Amino acid sequence: MTTTTNLPRTAARSHQLVTASERTTLDPFREVDWSIPIDDSAFHLPPEVLPLYGTTVWDSMSETRRIVYGRHEAAALCGAGIWFENVLMQAVLRHLAELPVTDPAHRYLLVEVADECRHSTMFGEFIRRAGTPAYRPAHASLDVDELPGRRAMSYLLILAVEELLDHINRKTMRDERVHPVSRQIAKLHVLEEARHVSFAKTYLSEVWPQLAADERHAMAEAAPALVAMVAEFSIDPAVYEHLGIDDGATTARVNPHHRAVIVAGVSKLTGFLQDLGLIDDENRSTWAALGLLA
Ligand SMILES: [Fe+2]
Ligand SMILES: [Fe+2]
Repeated sequence: MTTTTNLPRTAARSHQLVTASERTTLDPFREVDWSIPIDDSAFHLPPEVLPLYGTTVWDSMSETRRIVYGRHEAAALCGAGIWFENVLMQAVLRHLAELPVTDPAHRYLLVEVADECRHSTMFGEFIRRAGTPAYRPAHASLDVDELPGRRAMSYLLILAVEELLDHINRKTMRDERVHPVSRQIAKLHVLEEARHVSFAKTYLSEVWPQLAADERHAMAEAAPALVAMVAEFSIDPAVYEHLGIDDGATTARVNPHHRAVIVAGVSKLTGFLQDLGLIDDENRSTWAALGLLA
């Protein structure tokens, strides 16, 4: 069992993050102006992050059609967000079950779960108001108890999801072409996820050197495919089926523009894993072959 009694930096960071959460905890039903209709008056994601951007399919669409398509992609991203937050909460709850209540991380991790509950209600509200199908990863399953490296792998996965979403959210919140509701959602998520990213990085960098060599090896082996799975959720075939875009998912997967968005989106994660030593000269090519490193 890994408590934070042997993780002084994680314990100290937990105290800081509880204080930061007391200062800023946001209610999406106050912060987001849901009275503004989620319509096609503007893009819901910056066009450049849409998986079909720059393809011949994209070129053939009218501006109105592009906006409609983007509304569906935004709803699908919210659906993927809800799915991931559910899985990641399960991982955090398993960790919580191991921790004594006196461990400083105990209080912070409950705050983190509460944050994710609010985020998922916010993503759900967007989908309910967006007039799209209730998109969600259809055939996904991930057993958080079966991950190698135990808790450490959970936090690596948490970080992968959070960094990729953060990349898209930051572009969304700053983009004046984007609908105000989407910008408000993105901003709220960026503000609160910064704490989760901070916990995951502190925990991982402190636990990693304490793992047995075989555990580190198993994690380094499993990580590229798991992060690739996270990246794969940026494309939901149901969007293209619903909109009648033939071969949309295949077109998106091979779209060099989309592949560059993924590399950029996970670059904070891959940079961190290189500093940690999990990505090294030996396994770098595996990450590159999966489209996660340039
Ligand atoms: Fe979240
Ligand atoms: Fe999070």
